[in-house]
Amino acid sequence: MKPKVFSGVQPTGNIHLGNYIGALRQFVELQDTMDCVYCIVDMHSITLPQDPEQLRQTTLDVAALYMAVGLDPKKATIFVQSTVPQHAELSWVLTCNSYTGELSRMTQFKDKSKGSESAPTGLFTYPLLMAADILLYDANIVPVGNDQKQHIELTRDLAIRFNNKFGDTFVVPDYKGMEVGARIMALDEPTKKMSKSAENIHSRISLLDKPEKVKKSIMKSTTDSEGIIRYDVSEKPGISNLLTIYSVFSGKKIDEVVQQYEGSGYGQFKKDLVEIVNEHLDPIQKKYYEIRESEELIKVLKEGGEKAGAIAENTMKRVREKIGFINL
Ligand code: AMP
Ligand code: TRP
Repeated sequence: MKPKVFSGVQPTGNIHLGNYIGALRQFVELQDTMDCVYCIVDMHSITLPQDPEQLRQTTLDVAALYMAVGLDPKKATIFVQSTVPQHAELSWVLTCNSYTGELSRMTQFKDKSKGSESAPTGLFTYPLLMAADILLYDANIVPVGNDQKQHIELTRDLAIRFNNKFGDTFVVPDYKGMEVGARIMALDEPTKKMSKSAENIHSRISLLDKPEKVKKSIMKSTTDSEGIIRYDVSEKPGISNLLTIYSVFSGKKIDEVVQQYEGSGYGQFKKDLVEIVNEHLDPIQKKYYEIRESEELIKVLKEGGEKAGAIAENTMKRVREKIGFINL
């Protein structure tokens, strides 16, 4: 049997190069050889306030981007989390089998809540919903960026604990990250990860950015004053980040790129990177605009939801039985 894969992306703002390089690229690679389920996790997005109409739109945006980067609904199941209510149901069961201590240790919660007493409860229990997503589909592998590794480790702990307590129920999943690009950094502050929520739009490149915007963001990106192109994450985080992006989009190893630019300045390197990124984004954008308004998109999500719902219900039957919920 093929290994099972599950992953998800939040429909909050537009997908950026970090999401693409760290996560979506793997989604596409895996769909040919594995049994893949990819979700648009709108229930995770409401952990922070959202405009309802905008959330509906960005949910469709992300679905269209999934297909624009190469996900094929004939190969992978694509669906929206809130259309399968078993996610919320399992999440509650896991909530009752987890500890506040282990959730308090999640670095994403610490970052996002900043120690505030008025942090939304959903932000705190967010990793349990994520664990439910993964465990419902018996996933062996979860392709994500490096920032989600801790959440996968928690999911493993929860699955093992549940299995020990109630008998074999869940598959224990493994994290899968990219060797190059598991953590793409912000262009303006290369010691922080590129994120959808940073205020400065030049900190990230969205997959839908126009060529002029891409140019501006890359040309303005923070580097250093040494003037030598070499890969050194601690001393030269800016150039190292750009080298990573260059390497991924050109298909060349980082060493090769470094060699190619021996003796060149940052200006030329950045100009070439602008071209490479724009060349890569152009076909994605063309496909996105074709799909976004199509009937096809809705059909894919409806069918995906039905397929995913059937798998999720099977798992929930097992779970309800184990924990003692009545079956009338
Ligand atoms: P999110 O936007 O938080 O829903 O993230 C979607 C996927 O992109 C997850 O697998 C993240 O781990 C991944 N991701 C987000 N930001 C980055 C980044 N800066 N570098 C690499 N991967 C990222
Ligand atoms: N928490 C993930 C993020 O912010 C998104 C996510 C939700 C996810 N559920 C998931 C990723 C299940 C992988 C598997 O990036």
